[in-house]
Amino acid sequence: MRIAVCPGSFDPVTKGHLDIITRAAKLFDRVIVLVSINRAKQTSFDVKERLELLQAATEGIENVVVDANDGLLADYVAQSGACAIVKGLRAISDFDYEFQMALMNKKMVEQAETVFLTTNAEHLYLSSSLVKQIAYFGGDISDFVPACILEPVKKRLYRKGE
Ligand code: PNS
Repeated sequence: MRIAVCPGSFDPVTKGHLDIITRAAKLFDRVIVLVSINRAKQTSFDVKERLELLQAATEGIENVVVDANDGLLADYVAQSGACAIVKGLRAISDFDYEFQMALMNKKMVEQAETVFLTTNAEHLYLSSSLVKQIAYFGGDISDFVPACILEPVKKRLYRKGE
């Protein structure tokens, strides 16, 4: 069985993430969507909330499971028997950091091959942090987050501190 890990902060999951997860699920037998800790980011949702939102957003995709990891991604890949890390790439600005992480993960664990999927053009400008800013001020985020999690995300973010 070919297993891929799709890691991220998912704070919260967006339609851009869901597009990458859905496409990865067509390429691999099983996709583990992994809520991981990015030490450079302060999050608005705790890990349990992010897992619940991801669970709801990916409910209809049979070969997708969600999990969380408070450790190195490379170690998780080794332990789970995955053959790939799947990441979405938006603009060139993503590339430098993603390239560094891909090489570092491979250096730590040989089997950790990173596969980049090009973002759908519709999601080029989309990021969780912009979604959070728009929702904070009561703007319309319905184009950006999956419909099934729209209400809880709006409620949670409106005028709430980061
Ligand atoms: O959605 P993000 O914030 O861009 O995802 C980054 C993430 C969480 C995938 C990355 O920070 C990560 O892999 N964190 C786990 C800890 C780790 O392995 N760090 C070293 C990466 S070389």
